[in-house]
Amino acid sequence: MIEIERVNQSFQNTQVLNNIDLTIHDNEIFGLVGPSGVGKSTLLNCLAGLEAYQSGSIRVDGVQLETLNELEMRQFRRNIGMIFQNFSLVGRKDVFRNIALPMECWNYSKAEIKSRVEELAELTGIQDKLKSRPNELSGGQKQRVAIARALSMNPKYLFCDECTSALDPKSTAAILDLLKDLQKKFNITIIVVTHEMQVVQSICSRMAILDKGQVSLTGDVQEIFEKKPDQLRKLIGVDDRKISITMDIEDFAKIKTYLDRNQADYKVTGGM
Ligand SMILES: Nc1ncnc2c1ncn2[C@@H]1O[C@H](COP(=O)(O)OP(=O)(O)OP(=O)(O)O)[C@@H](O)[C@H]1O
Ligand SMILES: [Mg+2]
Repeated sequence: MIEIERVNQSFQNTQVLNNIDLTIHDNEIFGLVGPSGVGKSTLLNCLAGLEAYQSGSIRVDGVQLETLNELEMRQFRRNIGMIFQNFSLVGRKDVFRNIALPMECWNYSKAEIKSRVEELAELTGIQDKLKSRPNELSGGQKQRVAIARALSMNPKYLFCDECTSALDPKSTAAILDLLKDLQKKFNITIIVVTHEMQVVQSICSRMAILDKGQVSLTGDVQEIFEKKPDQLRKLIGVDDRKISITMDIEDFAKIKTYLDRNQADYKVTGGM
């Protein structure tokens, strides 16, 4: 369980996190959403022990992060796998070596590394790509490599920072399915930072909306999207106005394609 209490963080006199209180339960997929620049990545980095915060406390499974020394922090980070929008793979190493990197850093034996890399590659569906370089892979395949690498140390937590934002809808759906499967298989707790509401709706059970460095809303995803409270409306720009237009069927088809591609929430009423 991750317990965040009154966490504050500022950069150059600008307060980015303002008294954040949030609890993330074990084995859930938790969505963290909010407009650009609101502090989502900053908060995720604080939870991962990658960034210090000015005040407040973060407890992960009872361990208070601000009390850890450098060595303890290094040990703690083994519990956390991270994946990012840009995949963060090492271009000059092949897929095998990319997945193996954390295990090499922790001096695992060659045999252990080989069997774990092969197991992870199979789980993530890239077993035939182990000798390829990242630039020979599609975006979805690159993210699979990043996921395999993130899971190499058997972490309890997987933090995903906009991990599908660079992918097309089909690859996004496949990666989300993979994350769901991995969560069940390994009982990991996943935090998904995203600006895509469709991602939250398809895999997260609970969510928080960050607004101006504060948590403006937390709750059950299904309930929030059903009730559409003001905090969600503000974020997604829900507009309940009705407009009446007459158009021919071809224009309508073009507009419909555009709206669907942008996942717009709309209803068409009236005669066709
Ligand atoms: N190391 C840093 N030094 C100075 N300012 C920073 C630093 N890291 C983040 N910031 C600032 O903190 C604010 C929050 O940044 P953060 O990256 O957490 O936002 P975000 O919600 O993840 O945005 P996005 O959705 O665009 O990724 C931004 O204004 C950013 O410029
Ligand atoms: Mg970010």
